[in-house]
Amino acid sequence: MIANDDYFQNSYANVKRNGEIRMQINLDEIDLTNSEPVVEPERQYYFMAKCREELKKQSQELGRKLTASVNTFGCQMNARDSEKIVGILKNIGYEVIESENADFVIYNTCTVRENANMKVYGHLGYLKKIKSKKKHMKIALCGCMMQEETVIEKIKKSYSFVDLVFGTHNIFKFAELLYTCMISERMVLDIWKDTNEIVEDLPSERKFSFKAGVNIMFGCNNFCSYCIVPYVRGRERSRNPEDIVKEIEELVADGVVEVMLLGQNVNSYGKNLENPMTFAQLLQKVEKVEGLKRIRFMTPHPKDLSLELIEVMKNSKKICNHLHLPIQAGSSRLLKIMNRKYTKEQYLELVENIKKSIPDISLTTDIMLGFPGETEEDFQDTLDVVRQVRYDSAYTFIYSKRTGTPAAQMENQVPEEVVKERFQRLLAEIQKISAELTKEDEGTVQEVLVEERNQHDEQLLTGRLSNNLLVHFKGEENLIGELVYVKLTECKGFYYMGEMVQME
Ligand code: 5AD
Ligand code: SF4
Repeated sequence: MIANDDYFQNSYANVKRNGEIRMQINLDEIDLTNSEPVVEPERQYYFMAKCREELKKQSQELGRKLTASVNTFGCQMNARDSEKIVGILKNIGYEVIESENADFVIYNTCTVRENANMKVYGHLGYLKKIKSKKKHMKIALCGCMMQEETVIEKIKKSYSFVDLVFGTHNIFKFAELLYTCMISERMVLDIWKDTNEIVEDLPSERKFSFKAGVNIMFGCNNFCSYCIVPYVRGRERSRNPEDIVKEIEELVADGVVEVMLLGQNVNSYGKNLENPMTFAQLLQKVEKVEGLKRIRFMTPHPKDLSLELIEVMKNSKKICNHLHLPIQAGSSRLLKIMNRKYTKEQYLELVENIKKSIPDISLTTDIMLGFPGETEEDFQDTLDVVRQVRYDSAYTFIYSKRTGTPAAQMENQVPEEVVKERFQRLLAEIQKISAELTKEDEGTVQEVLVEERNQHDEQLLTGRLSNNLLVHFKGEENLIGELVYVKLTECKGFYYMGEMVQME
């Protein structure tokens, strides 16, 4: 037996608290003979220590370190949640790997469209076979899909080999749930309908050393009639600005140069704080963080994008030159039924204001096709907006019926062939405009954040422009995480080939 205790050394939950004081929690120093603390996050540190102890035992029995893999579906919110899960797993002593052949496999699920759910069921079918040969294997499901009652019923009935199921509101309790799961033979199920609780100071493991997502708020109050997010992510809750700024300062101290502020509707930030503040005011605070080079955010809702925000973006040196402004549909009639709370004309006026203030801004959007009752005339309105705004790029989705949303009750669903044909026409228009806009910057020199070695050509690095486009250019790996200047020598449609240049 190789029972390797080294794996369990340096068991510090890498948490930083009280502003400048960097406090590391040594899990080994937690007295597990005491009963569990009631307050958070101390309660979770206690359970992390309990899990570590349990994992050590299992590792000794197996004669090797146990592995875990976290598989993420969906949006950046989920990606950020997965970083928190990975942070806890590593602190506990798991070796986190990419393969689904791990001892502990977690799916962090998405349910915004039906096909996301189907993918998860597909993976579970595959895992069942692996688990039948590997008895100690544990499987956990979390994320948005788990907040749906019908899904939970199905899992209990048809996927009873799953060991742990939790939702989006109690992710901070992961260590505690994992411990219960470790010592239990039965499925552990813990789903909360909603919560006001935001627990700070839990460990997390960043995917990139130089850029990071930062939650500024959770949940959504908008109830767009097609969307399941408000039902699975709950009501809007904003983090305190001090906590956000503190987190960003610590990230910067740790080598991060770019942050992406995350929220379902960032324009609603701060409304429910004890001392209310606007998103634009938060951005100004974040701008002041020394050493931070780039700020991005996702996602603003057009209905309440303020002139104040446009002004702050215009005057900022750090906010990237990119705005993702989901339109969903161009027809005012459909927008009303979608409960988007703006008309085609209001959206176009907003875009005009933005372009007037920030002429070279890159605009991107989300468009949904096939919403119940969408006519050719409605679709023409969408095409018209695309032509007038001239988006740099757009995410296009086919409407997916989500049980429990008002749109699911609507009749006159659009036939699939009609939607697919519209989809092709829309895509052609978006791609044509996008290629024209990308071409305009050919030959210019731009500041680029070097993100990774190119996946297809070893000699190349891949970097991201402020406007979110990618450029591939020759360079050494030690530049990853640095801001460099690159001449965009050749436009390749949606990305560039380039050459690094030295600037004075
Ligand atoms: N069907 C298809 N697309 C959807 N989206 C949200 N709900 C649905 C749905 N039921 C899209 C919207 C949103 C993006 C994140 O996902 O365009 O902006
Ligand atoms: Fe869904 Fe609308 Fe909320 Fe976005 S704003 S998450 S589309 S309900």
